[in-house]
Order: sequence, then structure tokens, then C-alpha cells
Amino acid sequence: CDNITVSENGRLLFAGQDTVELARQYGTPLYLMDEDKIRENCRVYAAAFQKHFGDRARPLYASKANSFKRIYEIMKEEQMGIDVVSSGEIYTALQAGYDLSRAYFHSNNKTDEDIRYSMENGIGYFVADNVEEIRAIEAEAARRGVRQKVLLRLTPGIDPHTYEAIATGKVDSKFGSAIETGQAEEITAFTLQQPHVELVGFHCHVGSQVFAEDVFERAAVIMLEFVAAMKNKYGYMAQQLDLGGGYGVRYVESDPDLDVDTKVGEVAAAIRQACARLEIDLPEIHMEPGRSIVGAAGMTLYTAGTVKKIPGYKNYVSVDGGMPDNPRFALYGASYTCLLANKMNEPAGFECSVVGRCCESGDIIQEHVMLPASVGRGDIVAVCTTGAYNYSMASNYNRLPRPPIVMLRGGGEHYVAVRRESLEDLCRNDR
Ligand code: LLP
Repeated sequence: CDNITVSENGRLLFAGQDTVELARQYGTPLYLMDEDKIRENCRVYAAAFQKHFGDRARPLYASKANSFKRIYEIMKEEQMGIDVVSSGEIYTALQAGYDLSRAYFHSNNKTDEDIRYSMENGIGYFVADNVEEIRAIEAEAARRGVRQKVLLRLTPGIDPHTYEAIATGKVDSKFGSAIETGQAEEITAFTLQQPHVELVGFHCHVGSQVFAEDVFERAAVIMLEFVAAMKNKYGYMAQQLDLGGGYGVRYVESDPDLDVDTKVGEVAAAIRQACARLEIDLPEIHMEPGRSIVGAAGMTLYTAGTVKKIPGYKNYVSVDGGMPDNPRFALYGASYTCLLANKMNEPAGFECSVVGRCCESGDIIQEHVMLPASVGRGDIVAVCTTGAYNYSMASNYNRLPRPPIVMLRGGGEHYVAVRRESLEDLCRNDR
């Protein structure tokens, strides 16, 4: 996180606020979100799009990264479009008063109920994954007597060099229709024949936590070549081209720090060049950042409990949360920076694994962490950059209640956006 500092008495400040004090007031585990940072990130994207693509281009927030009512209110206020992937995300956005006409419904398997529910509530666009979905959308649109706007998700056949589990743009991906196999053209031709579906353009998403140099440029060029081919063959010119999300964020010092304006500028240059070469107009360009909007705007606080030293082997510091609130190390071996929030002035010379409280050895937040040697029960452990894919992937494993989300704002303000689950909440649906 770039929004952390240390106070004179050695306490970690997040967005200028004392994390130890926040942990005391709200309890732990605790998710903190820096609202000003989220808004700033939205504005950086909006300004970059305006500068490099003009008025019609826009960033959408990929709400799978972190989905709760308040975040959709913020997106509404920031005039961001949104990417949603389920009736649950749509319901949450509606509860926040978000106008769904700016929402794009993704997912490789929308159920009939998802399609019905989202159309009933005025979904702006579907990003259809396959021919079966086009059939289902056509049927529902016909029943309602409307013409539904749709984009097609295509796989450009690119390896983004990120964790295997989150690479999505390769030919053999479960997502979308591959350009290389001819299935992208088939679904385009099929969609153009549907009377109640309006094809507005194409979409691709090559992966997440991507740092590799020219992945987005290459994807854009392949997609534009497809756009041009469809124009030449079917006389169909795509209005919109959505390049998905994926820009990486900095979890540890060795990660690069991407500059959104520079990255968007590079993609824009490649796009303009390709459009000129292919003799097509510039489509409306969209991107769907999730992680890079909220990731660095989040932090998790835990209270340390058991400190276990196994001489000649290793050391463990156990915290009062773990894989239920942050499954990313268990799933991807993801990197995080851990700090001892109440002892920031002490040298960090004690190597340990920060582990959760669940009944399995894989319940690890991070390995090879350096903390002050005095770490012990009651200390506050902060894990940085947890604003994306932590709360949204949280579970109740071991019947642990999910932590609250407390939002921080300038001027020392803080408020609960999602309250802590209670023990009663855990049994709410049990019969
Ligand atoms: N658009 C589509 C179609 C996506 O599938 C995704 C992410 C995004 C946009 C946003 O990508 P972002 O800007 O956040 O990288 N759970 C994994 C990440 C899965 C990403 C899924 N799709 C993790 O914790 O790393």
C-alpha cells in the first residue's frame, strides 16, 4: 500500500489513521478500506480514458473484486460502469440504487433465472460467452418484446504470464469463443441473425494480476483484426471493444508499480495504429479494472495469538483469521506484505510464517515474513493490499464469522460499511 505511514509512537497509520486504535474500536479480524483511494483510482482511470480515447470510452469497475452495497454507491457517484457476474452482485448493486443500464453482465454460465432477473431489472448489456447463452437471451428478449444489447466474449489466444488459475485468454480457456478455432466467427454470424439481440461489440479478458509488457496491446490488435474481418465479411462494424481487466497491483516491494495513465496510453497508441492499418473507425473502448481500483485501498488487521518456535525448523505467528477471510495464499501462493502495526519502530528480525486459526496446515497468510522478535499475543498484525478478492472470496470455514468492512475517509472519519457477522448470522439459514 502506498497510503501507509508510521506515527511517532511506532504505530502503523493507514490513510492517516491509527490502525491499532481502529483494531481496538472495531475488533479483529477487520477489513479496512480507504474510500478516498478508491475514488482516486476511479478518477485516474476516467482521466486516462478521456485523455487517450475521448468521451465515449469508459472504465467499468469489475465488482467481483469487492462487492458490497457501499462500493456500488461509490461507483455510482464516480460515474463508473460496472461489471457484474451473478444475480447476487446485481441484487447488491440494485440495493445501492445503482442504475443497471450501465452494467455489463459477464460469466461463462448465466442461468435462465440470471437472464430473466437481470433483464427484469434493466441490465444494460450481456457479455455472452457462447451460443447457448445467445439462444437463452434471444428467447427471454422475445418474450419481453425487447431488443437486448449484447457483447461477445472472445478468446484472443494470449498467455498473460500470471498464475495459471487466473489466466483466461488462452485458446483452451473455459471462457468465451476462440478466434483461432473459428468459433468466434460462428457465434458472431449466429448473433447477427437474432431478431431480439443487438450485437454491440466484442470483449476479451486475458487474465488478472498481469504485469507482462505488451499483453493488452497484443490482445487489442488481435481483437481489432477480428473486428475488421467481421466488417469485411458481414458488413458488421463493432461499436464497442471491451478489453477486460487485469492490471497488476503491488503486493510486495519487488512487484512493479504500474502507472495507469502510461499503460492506457500505450494500449491507445497500439489501438489507433491498428485501426489506421485495418481502415476501421475507432470503436468505443472499455476496460474493466477490479484489483487496480480496490486492491491497494484495503488492509486487514488481525490480533496475534500463539507464537510457536520450533528450534532448528521454523516459527509461526497465528492470527485470529486466516484462509476464510483471505484464501489467496492457499489458492495461488499469493504474496503479501505483513507488518506488526503496534511495533513499527522495532527492527523486524524474526522470520516466521503468519498463519490462520483454521484446522489445516494450508491455512497460511504468508511465509518468510519478518516481524519484530518481541511479537506476541495481543499484537496487531496488518496485511497490506487486501482490498481485492479477499472479502469477496471470504467463507465461513470453521464457522468463523466474516469480518466487517470499515471505510476510512479524509479528516480521520471512519464508518462501518459491512457489519461483522454475528454467531446468530452463522445459523440464520440452518433448520
Ligand atoms: N473482467 C473480467 C471478465 C474478469 O474475469 C475479471 C477478473 C476482471 C474483469 C477484473 O480483473 P482485475 O482487474 O481484477 O484483474 N480471484 C483471483 C482473481 C480472479 C480474477 C477473475 N476475473 C485473485 O484473487 O487473484
